[in-house]
Amino acid sequence: MMAAMQPSDASAAALRNDALIDRGLIRTWLGWGFVWLLVFPTLGAVVSTKFNYPESLGGVPWLSFGRLRPIHVNGVIWGAFSTLFIGLCHYVVPRLCGVRLWAERWSHGLLWVWNLNLALGSLLLAAGFNRGWEAGEYPLITVAVIFLVLLALTVQFLVTIARRTSPPLYVSLWYLIAAFIWTDVNLVLLLLGPYHIPGINNAAWHGLFIHYVVGLWITPAGYVLIYYFLPASVRNPISSHKLSLIGFWSLAFFYPFVGIHHYLYSPITEWAQTIAIVSSMMLIIPVWTVIQNFFGTMVGRWSEIGRNLPAKFLITGSLLYLVGCFQGSVQALRSLQQPTHFTDFVIAHSHITIFGTFVVWALGGALYVWPRITGAGPARFAPANWAFWLITLGIASMFTVLAAQGLQQGFMLMAGAEWMDTVSAIRPYWWVRTLTGISMDVGLSLLVVTLMRSSLRA
Ligand code: HEM
Repeated sequence: MMAAMQPSDASAAALRNDALIDRGLIRTWLGWGFVWLLVFPTLGAVVSTKFNYPESLGGVPWLSFGRLRPIHVNGVIWGAFSTLFIGLCHYVVPRLCGVRLWAERWSHGLLWVWNLNLALGSLLLAAGFNRGWEAGEYPLITVAVIFLVLLALTVQFLVTIARRTSPPLYVSLWYLIAAFIWTDVNLVLLLLGPYHIPGINNAAWHGLFIHYVVGLWITPAGYVLIYYFLPASVRNPISSHKLSLIGFWSLAFFYPFVGIHHYLYSPITEWAQTIAIVSSMMLIIPVWTVIQNFFGTMVGRWSEIGRNLPAKFLITGSLLYLVGCFQGSVQALRSLQQPTHFTDFVIAHSHITIFGTFVVWALGGALYVWPRITGAGPARFAPANWAFWLITLGIASMFTVLAAQGLQQGFMLMAGAEWMDTVSAIRPYWWVRTLTGISMDVGLSLLVVTLMRSSLRA
């Protein structure tokens, strides 16, 4: 349909769609997303120095590893990625629905509540408040506010979608509806779970929670972005509607069962562990179908990828997704889980997926939207392209070095080596890890500065 459009029709449609969005609102959401992009990943690079120099930040409790790590992890998930995602939803939803966002004025208030809450949550973590569930460490008050804001946004988006001008729902909207509803439910679990479920069941429920965060929030949220911004940035329709359907339903079906793969070899019953392993293998279906769809969308457009920055980020994120998810499926197997659990192999996985894929996809979306909402025109190519390479080489090398050191340590331990000997053996890798983190941080800063400078010039 898009291919049959005349240029004048396309620009008339673009003008009509532009009238549906609140540019200032999107700019402020994205602006906050940029702030968190500069803060939370950088904290990761800072805290990584402690691997080589445990005393590096002095003996101050709020600068200890145990406090800075959850600030970094939760901050990247809820701050850097989710804030950009929510901002981009304010661009995508009205355009796909043909109507303005319902109760748009709510979003102006929600934006401040969301961001000040994240700032407060981080300070409380620094002060030592921590609820103990990995990726759910924020204090109760912070979680309650995240829940209420997401609930309000869910209502806004669902009502807007119900009022859309044409009945078909584009793929991005399936994932958006699912991501928000699943996550509202998951946050109820986070509100109640940590202190109200006794014994080993607590670990099993935590497995469910963390996998709902990565699989039923971050993953569908990322799909919202790439399903919209890849076809938009290369001006090709999405390759296959059928594959999108398979991808959606297989994600919905298999993800809820995989959580216990975080607790293999634990006292949780064996059959539940086996179901988690089988489901982890089955996740190959949604992953390969969406990747096939993205690469199919690029057919006839590969030659322009070098200079098309949004597409370059989106496709690179997809490649890293393929690698990270393949690693995820095989590390769920008992034979690979045995050497790798409790090692940096798992940290290689969490970085290549959350940062390498989803933050990178959000950057692709931001690169597409920012020039359009600020009227600045495309970001300057040279610095943005430098940023792309610093980020890509940084995360690819971080993945490689963490995976290698994880395997080395795991197999040394299995061979009976002393714990301290294994730590000494991997010390040099930690240096490289810090350097790769610095490369990613410099790349992010360069990108944000380039976007800001372009909008200041406009
Ligand atoms: C096919 C898809 C995937 C599979 C089969 C998979 C599998 C796994 C497994 C088995 C673990 C536990 C490793 C261990 O504790 O020893 C794990 C951990 C993790 N995965 Fe995945 N994964 C997949 C995709 C993803 C995606 C898309 C994300 C991010 C959005 C993600 C984020 C994480 C995180 C954050 C951890 C926890 C790391 C930690 O404990 O510090 N995974 N994954």
